[in-house]
Amino acid sequence: ARSINLAVIPGDGIGPEVVAQGLKVLGAVLPADIKLETTEYALGAQRWHATGETLPDAELERLQSHDAILLGAIGDPSVPSGVLERGLLLKLRFAFDHYVNLRPSRLFPNTASPLAGEPQIDFVVVREGTEGPYVGNGGSMRTGTPAEVATEVSLNTAYGVERVVRDAFERAQARPRKKLTLVHKNNVLVHAGHLWSRTVERIGREYPEVTTDYLHVDAATIFMVTQPQRFDVIVTDNLFGDILTDLAAAITGGIGLAASGNINPAGAFPSMFEPVHGSAPDIAGTGKADPTATVLSVALLLRHLGHPAGAARIEEAVTADLAARSAATARTTDQIGDALAARVSG
Ligand code: IPM
Ligand code: MN
Repeated sequence: ARSINLAVIPGDGIGPEVVAQGLKVLGAVLPADIKLETTEYALGAQRWHATGETLPDAELERLQSHDAILLGAIGDPSVPSGVLERGLLLKLRFAFDHYVNLRPSRLFPNTASPLAGEPQIDFVVVREGTEGPYVGNGGSMRTGTPAEVATEVSLNTAYGVERVVRDAFERAQARPRKKLTLVHKNNVLVHAGHLWSRTVERIGREYPEVTTDYLHVDAATIFMVTQPQRFDVIVTDNLFGDILTDLAAAITGGIGLAASGNINPAGAFPSMFEPVHGSAPDIAGTGKADPTATVLSVALLLRHLGHPAGAARIEEAVTADLAARSAATARTTDQIGDALAARVSG
């Protein structure tokens, strides 16, 4: 009998609400011979207010023993911006070497996408997850004075760029269109940009079937709106990937549908799955949060753990649920979770 030993971090705002639905659907889709064990970790704003801790080493060590992590959302207006983001979410991504931040975008039926009805949009962004401006390498001098100077250094290593580019080529190779687009800004960021471009060119020689393409990030935002069909796999750095994947979510049905995986491909550390959206404190507790992004993140989790059939069932259930839903009757978080759970078990 196989089993999944899952760590769950509900987090802040709507995090606990959407995670509850993700777990509901996970429980419904798993066949009886796969045992699911979940351990909840109380991390986030409440923990920080109570103890001043974001992610103690002992918790990090316990988290490491799981097969995977499901995370809701981190961040709260009562905590200074950056404390939980850096001290918890990014700390997890860095500590567990989640260098592939995988963010698929498919145009779902019957959504509020401004591009609804367009021909097929189906691409995946491979966002680098452990380098770039996110490393926290910076500082400020004369802080708070008119003479303040602040820096955030973007770190790009040959090792870090190569491993994520290689992963992106593997994914492109496995897809029907076999196309990889590097997005950067190598006309301005000439040091990091050219490292990325050279790496794609070099690794690309090992993947002769994959067509490669380059776009500056500003132009990429235009094409994402005017010609999203041109994208298949996009590889990009941590910050460009953050921005592009919010745009990608907006054009494919909204941030309520966008799933992500923070993946350590070799499996040395547990990978972590979370919706792309944040904690949305303005709608927390109202039942308005769409749990679909979390449910789709559970599908990515299942695929990562070697259960592709369960992942496909969830994705089919979401497509069917969206196709069937009526814009006139808004459903609650719980109702959407129930509907999806019924579809995957039915
Ligand atoms: C995301 C979020 C995070 C990021 C924040 C909350 C640190 O925006 O997962 O996209 O910038 O990566
Ligand atoms: Mn983001």
